[in-house]
Amino acid sequence: MAKLKTKFACTDCGTESPKWLGKCPGCGAWNTMVEEKETVVKTQGQGSSLIQTKEKPLSIIHIDSGQEPRIETALQELNRVLGGGVVPGSLILVGGDPGIGKSTLLLQTSHALAVKGLTVLYISGEESVKQTRLRADRLGALTDTLYVLCETNMEQINEAIESVQPDFLVIDSIQTVYEPSVSSAPGSVSQVRECTAHFMRVAKVRGIATVLVGHVTKEGAIAGPRLLEHMVDCVLYFEGERHHSYRLLRAVKNRFGSTNEIGIFEMGEAGLREVSNPSELFLSERPLGVSGSTVVASMEGTRPVLVELQALVATTNFPSPRRMSTGIDHNRLSLIIAVLEKRMGMFLQTQDAYLNVAGGVKLDEPAVDLAVAVCIASSFRDAPTRPFDVVFGEIGLTGEVRAVSRAEQRVKEAQKLGFKRIIMPEKSLKGWSPPTGIEIIGVETVAQALAAALG
Ligand code: TYD
Ligand code: MG
Repeated sequence: MAKLKTKFACTDCGTESPKWLGKCPGCGAWNTMVEEKETVVKTQGQGSSLIQTKEKPLSIIHIDSGQEPRIETALQELNRVLGGGVVPGSLILVGGDPGIGKSTLLLQTSHALAVKGLTVLYISGEESVKQTRLRADRLGALTDTLYVLCETNMEQINEAIESVQPDFLVIDSIQTVYEPSVSSAPGSVSQVRECTAHFMRVAKVRGIATVLVGHVTKEGAIAGPRLLEHMVDCVLYFEGERHHSYRLLRAVKNRFGSTNEIGIFEMGEAGLREVSNPSELFLSERPLGVSGSTVVASMEGTRPVLVELQALVATTNFPSPRRMSTGIDHNRLSLIIAVLEKRMGMFLQTQDAYLNVAGGVKLDEPAVDLAVAVCIASSFRDAPTRPFDVVFGEIGLTGEVRAVSRAEQRVKEAQKLGFKRIIMPEKSLKGWSPPTGIEIIGVETVAQALAAALG
């Protein structure tokens, strides 16, 4: 008989303790220790397949540095986020709120890969085979090399992998599968950890590209121990607002590419559609000729995206004014407001300031500073901005406008979308010649930028 043991494990970092603790000794988080019952199993042989490999250490000079082969999916936006396609043998974790479209995205991807001739195994622990078929009907995802299994027991899943020999494997979701030798409930820290470690080994040894779907907690992190994110090769988040149809796919970790690319999709009747020109989407509801609205050219990875910023500055009723921002770091907003107060003499201490990035996008590069300043000043003075202006540039604490990267690409994107004027850092104009047909105003200070934009 195996011995039954009770222990407590931290849901954030996986630290274990024989008794309950209010504060995790591993990561210092409060109230994250949960009880887990576990049968002690002899772990003899576990991981031995890895230990038994006969590989010898190689001099770094002799290691083949050839590009990893990539399997390109039919979804260009997904390829972009992954850094050019799925790497065989990689383990990818996809997180997102319930109902955001994770299963839809993966079923579409599975179908597209099966059409290319790959064998795909889609394991659903949440929906029945019938439900998956119904969804596939709707998506038009019917191929004979796309296999579906509704199963949560790891032993059965292993058998299925053995018999189907897939090239691409989807586990929807990691919180529903369980290893029978570990007696804690599915979704518990030890189950999630064990199962992920197992899929990692299978992926590496067999060269199967594996995607795990992960649930997210209320705070927005992938449920389960934090070390889950350390174990996998890529962590992708699928996000978006429930009331909007577009969805963003963002990499927060990628061992095979950069993490600042985003993929944009639109959820429709027949599943997810790629949005190849996001600027058009983000500008589609823009009001023209009003105060407090500016268009910024921001880089999302290697791609310039034009986004509308909106500000509302209104007299406060509180002793200390409110500063609220969505899509832009709150501290960055405070800094820009401080610069406007000190350098431009704007009396904003008695004003509430709200800032919103239209479309639910998050902008975290300093190049959006100047546009934030322009739209706050525009709302404060109630002076409309010109509808065909694009603004970008970083602001320094003395009120100077600093150079930003990839100015040329930003200008070209603005021109492509029919904008007439660009207000940008003078210092970013060196080394390239602006295209004809678009007016460029190089500025060195915030004062010059406001004079040009609102004058
Ligand atoms: P789903 O992929 O089940 O989400 P998740 O796996 O992340 O929980 O997506 C479910 C939502 O997507 C549901 O609200 C219906 C919507 N949807 C469409 O609008 N069109 C479609 O073609 C499909 C398949 C789903
Ligand atoms: Mg689902």
